[in-house]
Formats: sequence, structure tokens, C-alpha cells
Amino acid sequence: MIFESHAHYDDEEFDEDRDSLLASMPENGIEYIINVGANLRTTENTIALTEQYPFIYGAAGVHPSDTAELNEENFAWLKEQCSKPKIVAVGEIGLDYYWDEPDREIQKKWFQRQLALAAEKKLPVIIHSRDAAKDTLDIMKKMECQKMSGVVHCFSYPKEIAREVLNMGFYLGIGGVVTFQNAKAVKEVVKYAPLDRILLETDSPYLAPVPHRGERNSSLYIPLIAEEIAKIKGIEYDKVVRITNENAKKLFHIG
Ligand code: NI
Repeated sequence: MIFESHAHYDDEEFDEDRDSLLASMPENGIEYIINVGANLRTTENTIALTEQYPFIYGAAGVHPSDTAELNEENFAWLKEQCSKPKIVAVGEIGLDYYWDEPDREIQKKWFQRQLALAAEKKLPVIIHSRDAAKDTLDIMKKMECQKMSGVVHCFSYPKEIAREVLNMGFYLGIGGVVTFQNAKAVKEVVKYAPLDRILLETDSPYLAPVPHRGERNSSLYIPLIAEEIAKIKGIEYDKVVRITNENAKKLFHIG
């Protein structure tokens, strides 16, 4: 059974068929899904989904691009959500210098505050990092992430960065990008990283794998990602599914 470690089923892209799509997950081999909050509103929506579906767990957090909405008052609310029984991680949090908004200092401040929150709550973190490898690693070291646990999701940096992330004991989230023909760096990282440090993810509704690139993504496409990983590593598809499932259960303390 597949463990989907990163999706956004509260997204409006799923408004038309959310219930029928999610209801079809178990019969299609999807055992668990982590629905990931990206701001205060989607964290609230995530909690609602975890209450509705036994196989959906959630992450509470504010994506770097949305950190301008944070203040002490709503941060206290976010902290409370981390005590909900099916909230198993803080995320997605991090730095995004591709969109580069709000100011980097604001992004850094709330990345650190949310890392500290995860440490306090003894929860793993789901890190989003785009075009910000150096600052992400610097903050992870400063905040002593080697004493925490987590995943750098949609990992898209070169092998040298992967090595540092792995050395801190973190997992690498691998999604549809690995199937893109021009994704040389990600394929190299998949070859390099031990299978017991890889998580499968889609980031649905974004980043659909080939041959669905550009379409709405869903966890039903994860087999395409697992097949590509199996091909790159020269191992069995079933092994990829089984080990990544064990990895995610261990990281998120599920099952
Ligand atoms: Ni995401």
C-alpha cells in the first residue's frame, strides 16, 4: 500500500469531485495521505479533512509565501492546532526565494518560529525550500534540526545539498518532477539517496508526473513516481512502495 506524504486536497481544484476522489483512494492502493496546510485557512481545512477521512492525517503550518499573515495572536492559534490528535507534523514551512515574497527576513523569522514550535511539540517538520538552499541549511543547522525529524518535500536541489539534509537525519520527498525528462539533478539525487530515506509524494494538485504533466495531479498517479524511482535505482517497484511506506509511518508515527 502507498503512503502519500504530501497533498493539498482542500485546494479548490478538487471542489467538484473531492469526496468521490478521496473515497476511491483505499481501493486504489493508497493507505494513508498527509494533507498539508500552507496557511491558517488551509490548516483549518486540513483538520476538517482529517476528521472526515480515517486515512487522512494532517500537517499544520504556514508556507513561506504566506508568512505575512502571521502575528503573535494567530501563531498561538496555530500552536493549539498542533495538539489535535491527527496533526502529525508542522508544515509546510521554509523559504521560497523563487516567488521571493514577503521579505526574506519575514520568511526566515517565521521559518525559525515554526521550527521551534515543532521542537516544542515534538513533531516532525515538512520543509518547503525553493531557490533558497543555503539559507535553508543555515537555519536548519542554527535551529539544531539534527535533533528533530522531518522531510524536505519536493526535493529539487543537487546531490551536495541532499547529502547535508540526509546527514541531519531528514528524509527527501520525491514527487512527479522525477519523471520529467529534464530533471537530471532529481534523478541523480534519487540514485544517490538510500531508499530508507525517501518518501513518496505528489504535492497534488500540482506537479503531475509524466504523462499527465500540466494536468491536475492526484495521489492516484503515485505509481508513476514509484516506477521511475524503481527504474533509476534498478530495484523492484514493490520494494519502493513498501520501504517508502515504512519510512513515512516511522516519521509521522502512524500505524
Ligand atoms: Ni505543498
